[in-house]
Amino acid sequence: MTTPVQLRAAEIFGVRRVGAYTEFTVVAPEIAAGFRPGHFVAVSVGDETSSLMLRRAFALHGATPGGQFAGTVSFVVAAHGPGTQWLARRQAGEALDVVGPLGTPFPLPSGPAPAVLVGGGYGSAPLVPLAQALQAQGSPVRFLLGAASADRLFGELVVKRLVGSVTVTTDDGSAGERGLVTEALPDAIREISAEIVYGCGPMPMLRAVGDIARDFSIRAQVAVEESMACGIGVCMTCVLPVRGSDGRSRFVRSCVDGPVFDATRVRWEDVGLLPRDLVGADAMGGGS
Ligand SMILES: Cc1cc2nc3c(=O)[nH]c(=O)nc-3n(C[C@H](O)[C@H](O)[C@H](O)COP(=O)(O)OP(=O)(O)OC[C@H]3O[C@@H](n4cnc5c(N)ncnc54)[C@H](O)[C@@H]3O)c2cc1C
Ligand code: FES
Repeated sequence: MTTPVQLRAAEIFGVRRVGAYTEFTVVAPEIAAGFRPGHFVAVSVGDETSSLMLRRAFALHGATPGGQFAGTVSFVVAAHGPGTQWLARRQAGEALDVVGPLGTPFPLPSGPAPAVLVGGGYGSAPLVPLAQALQAQGSPVRFLLGAASADRLFGELVVKRLVGSVTVTTDDGSAGERGLVTEALPDAIREISAEIVYGCGPMPMLRAVGDIARDFSIRAQVAVEESMACGIGVCMTCVLPVRGSDGRSRFVRSCVDGPVFDATRVRWEDVGLLPRDLVGADAMGGGS
């Protein structure tokens, strides 16, 4: 595991508006050095007088290596509540308090293996460096991008440049095919005889990715976005019910044991609940 570092004053090198999102590039050589696709950073939000105590998590979209010149990391922010709105107002030259790299990255196949990548909204951001890593080891890559509307798609051009073509869907039909991105997944799996599917996006999309991968008897690795408080494995805010290799289910922490999980092992229907058969459910006073 990469040891995370805290940079109390990481300079914002660049800010770019991309549709509904804001992409930040931050000078963080120590974080860039340990980066693997799937890692995330936890960013402090608000100033000394604000009440926004918890750091906010953002998947890394990329990193440049350190070396003689300062390394940078980039991430994409969807302005949502007070923390992300504060962040979206930051400008180049300002400093951020950033901890990373955090979490477990996407596992790569041991050799070349055809892969389909499915990104929902800004969830495509961490899949771009993953596509690069897969291609570097000789794996053919198909990319599917979906969003509610055209302004919520992220990375279409960069993905096209990287893998040659991309299938785009939007819920409202404002770009690409109208519909859910997972509706295009079975054909994409067949086209390249995919051996693995990777996904990042909203939970219902990840669940569908896991169900489809199971139908094809192929692997599915997905990055979840569970609410987090500490981000370092201490508070148990971010737990998910996951079936282990022994067939028993346990709560696992998505900040340190994830955010990347085998989608076929997550008990999606029980997320947010305390299932009776979970190891330790009695002690937790549970049973739904
Ligand atoms: C591993 C991971 C990667 C993420 N990557 C991205 C990304 O690349 N780009 C991006 O825009 N957002 C990302 N998110 C979601 C982002 O962290 C939340 O949108 C953000 O914390 C919301 O903060 P807020 O103050 O704007 O909203 P509020 O709703 O006021 O947030 C209050 C608290 O709720 C929790 N929270 C609220 N919404 C979410 C959410 N969707 N996911 C997790 N926690 C939430 C946070 O712990 C936060 O401290 C990621 C979340 C996780 C866990
Ligand atoms: S966020 Fe605290 S344990 Fe995961």
